[in-house]
Amino acid sequence: MPGRLADKVALITGSGGGQGRAAAVMFAQEGAKVVVTDIKVEGGNETVELVKAAGGDAVFQETDVSNAADIKVAVDCAVETYGGLHIMYNNAAVLHKHDTTVTNLEEEMWDFVLNVNLKSVYLGCKHAIPEMTKVGGGSIINVSSLAGILGVGNVHAYTAAKGGVVSLTKAIATAYASKNIRCNAICPGAVDTPMMAHVLHGSNPKRLERVAKSHPLGRVGTPEDVASMGLFLASDESSWVTGSVFTVDGGYAAQ
Ligand SMILES: NC(=O)c1ccc[n+]([C@@H]2O[C@H](COP(=O)([O-])OP(=O)(O)OC[C@H]3O[C@@H](n4cnc5c(N)ncnc54)[C@H](O)[C@@H]3O)[C@@H](O)[C@H]2O)c1
Repeated sequence: MPGRLADKVALITGSGGGQGRAAAVMFAQEGAKVVVTDIKVEGGNETVELVKAAGGDAVFQETDVSNAADIKVAVDCAVETYGGLHIMYNNAAVLHKHDTTVTNLEEEMWDFVLNVNLKSVYLGCKHAIPEMTKVGGGSIINVSSLAGILGVGNVHAYTAAKGGVVSLTKAIATAYASKNIRCNAICPGAVDTPMMAHVLHGSNPKRLERVAKSHPLGRVGTPEDVASMGLFLASDESSWVTGSVFTVDGGYAAQ
């Protein structure tokens, strides 16, 4: 399929729902062949069906992003199925309960969240970079959060992991620029996905309105708002962009 990502192969973690699914469909519509990965098999298969319904090409590989062997298998799947890897979209993450600060955060939760949200990015890059090198370069997109750059939300393990994602993004960008591998981070504001369902659509109907108003543009984000930035960073349109951190947040961080 011709398009902004024609002839590219993309691996998107956590694409069995939410923003990752939106990116999978959008990337495929722009010509990329997509390896959909998620810990949830049903969601992953649904995304593949959506990609195919949109005229694109995708396969699903069950993957726990905190597991090194799983990540290796997912990268191998891209190479074996589609002949290489050009785009690594490290998107999968978990959010823990709000109002969990260092004093009431259990060590097990810290370890779990750091593994899924930060170690995963290390593992994804570790296995993707050698394959990108073989095809002459590539684009890594790491999904951080406003919580990675601002002290908001009282989600301290999540915040620490997302801050780590930002630092690692910059370090990878400088270390692998000579191999034509770019690495950028996206920091979304509140986006209406399953991750935020309990916050935005819980028992208090005023909650959504309040969160929407806290963003200057007056609404929460859609998965496509973030995937659109991902598409730009994945494409050659951003060929002189690396080591950058993009807020996609309806203006929240500008306040
Ligand atoms: N939704 C928001 O408001 C918001 C805000 C800022 C940043 N983010 C970030 O955006 C990214 C996408 O989140 P989302 O909003 O689409 O959330 P989501 O929960 O809707 O989607 C996350 C996906 O990751 C998968 N996943 C979870 N643990 C996994 C694991 N161990 N291995 C593989 N897959 C796993 C889930 O099954 C799910 O499909 C995440 O990095 C998140 O931290 C989200």
